[in-house]
Amino acid sequence: MSFRDDVLAGLRARPRAIPARWFYDRAGSELFELITELPEYYPTRTETAILEAACDEVAALVGPGRAVVEFGSGASTKTRVLLRCVKPAVYVPIDISGDFLREAARVLAGEFPEVEVVPFEADFTRPMTLPAAVADRPRLGFFPGSTIGNLEPAGAVDLLRAMRASLGEGATLLIGMDRVKDVGVLTAAYDDAAGVTARFNLNLLERINRELDGDVPMDAFRHVARWNAGAARIEMHLEATREVEFTVAGEAFGMAAGETIHTENSHKYTADAARLLLRAGGWEPVAEWTDPDALFAVLLAEARPVGATP
Ligand code: TRP
Repeated sequence: MSFRDDVLAGLRARPRAIPARWFYDRAGSELFELITELPEYYPTRTETAILEAACDEVAALVGPGRAVVEFGSGASTKTRVLLRCVKPAVYVPIDISGDFLREAARVLAGEFPEVEVVPFEADFTRPMTLPAAVADRPRLGFFPGSTIGNLEPAGAVDLLRAMRASLGEGATLLIGMDRVKDVGVLTAAYDDAAGVTARFNLNLLERINRELDGDVPMDAFRHVARWNAGAARIEMHLEATREVEFTVAGEAFGMAAGETIHTENSHKYTADAARLLLRAGGWEPVAEWTDPDALFAVLLAEARPVGATP
């Protein structure tokens, strides 16, 4: 669906919700980079430290000559940590937005001359045929950032199964999954003191005004991050601070004071829930690493043989 169709459908729905992928226009992507550096946003630096500490073990477990397949942009510090110690023969970053992907791949190829870097433009939420360069190699999927947690459980299972189908028999998956923890720590990570996450969330409304000829009054909305204990997730919402009327692409909308537009979920996992989700998605956990405060976890899993029974 297009930005326009998703926004109009999301504003008509009750409860109102707009898919999170529309956060990432240029301004949104830049704000997200800033989020990863915030003092309150522990996931990025914690996962990077876990990967640095676990790297030799990961390399020993997956063995040499791998094709590393990263689901997502692949421009990060985490990618570099992994490539440095796993020393794969081939590295395939997969993303839906081609320009950024190719540019990031060029930079990485310069830094890792011994690795064949093969950027692949694709929608990794569906099973896909990987480039020929990885055909005869054992594959290691890499899915950092607890991005799996931005999907609802059923969607997360579907995505893991699609990855299982794409990577094939004998593959392994290295995946970052954020842990359930103190609610104050969790909410601060999504509602920082400097207000960067608020700007990131509110940028969605600005994007609607810019691109969809909207007149949403920015001063009538505030960023809200709340812990939904039943669903074990942080939810981000845009809350109307007063009764408000606006138009988007010629269509009129009204919201009551306190009503929200739901914009993002970030599910958190206990150690058990993380393993259960992987198994449901066709992956058998074989090793896991965490930081000293157990804020975040990185798990290594093996593709379960198709049709296997206990
Ligand atoms: N997957 C990460 C997380 O849930 C990154 C992320 C996605 C994020 N959307 C976000 C971080 C919105 C802050 C705000 O933490």
